[in-house]
Amino acid sequence: MTRKIWILIAVIVLVLLVLVAQVFASTGRTNPPVENQVAWDSPQTQELFSRACADCHSNETKWPWYSKIPPASWLVVHDVNEGREKFNISAQDMGEADDAAEAVLEGEMPMKIYTVMHPEARLTPAERQALAQGLQKTFGGETGEGGEHGKDDDD
Ligand code: HEC
Repeated sequence: MTRKIWILIAVIVLVLLVLVAQVFASTGRTNPPVENQVAWDSPQTQELFSRACADCHSNETKWPWYSKIPPASWLVVHDVNEGREKFNISAQDMGEADDAAEAVLEGEMPMKIYTVMHPEARLTPAERQALAQGLQKTFGGETGEGGEHGKDDDD
């Protein structure tokens, strides 16, 4: 009998805690203005990037519901901030864009923990290959086989 009441109280307390936590957690979740438009080599590259990378490497992050609830929120906000710091397609200085192709080829990116919560960000081997090539064409950098850049005689 009274057990039901305790369960009810526990649920209410939990809900209140989550709501209070939101107030504190929301501080780190920002989407600063987009200051840069990328000239993508193809719509496919852009599509793959927004699926697998954009949440952490652009200012157009789709913040998930659990990014409001500590301790998940701390991890998510931290990863997004660190990701943007290194490489941000929305910033005038994009950072380490020319490492993007390599990071994808080597399986370093997208981060494993991200693909657990975002199944749509999991890339098939073919998609991984396509994204790496597209990133290389868009931002430069190494993937093994190079683009069609001829040797400029700039002397
Ligand atoms: C969950 C967030 C997250 C996602 C999704 C993500 N990254 Fe990252 N990325 C990071 C963080 C954090 C760092 C910095 C720490 C590190 O290097 O591991 C980083 C670093 C980088 C760097 C800097 C160079 C390097 O290797 O450290 C590049 C380039 C990069 N990511 C590209 C990508 C690409 C391309 C994708 C999509 C295929 C992607 N990232 C997806 C969080 C993310």
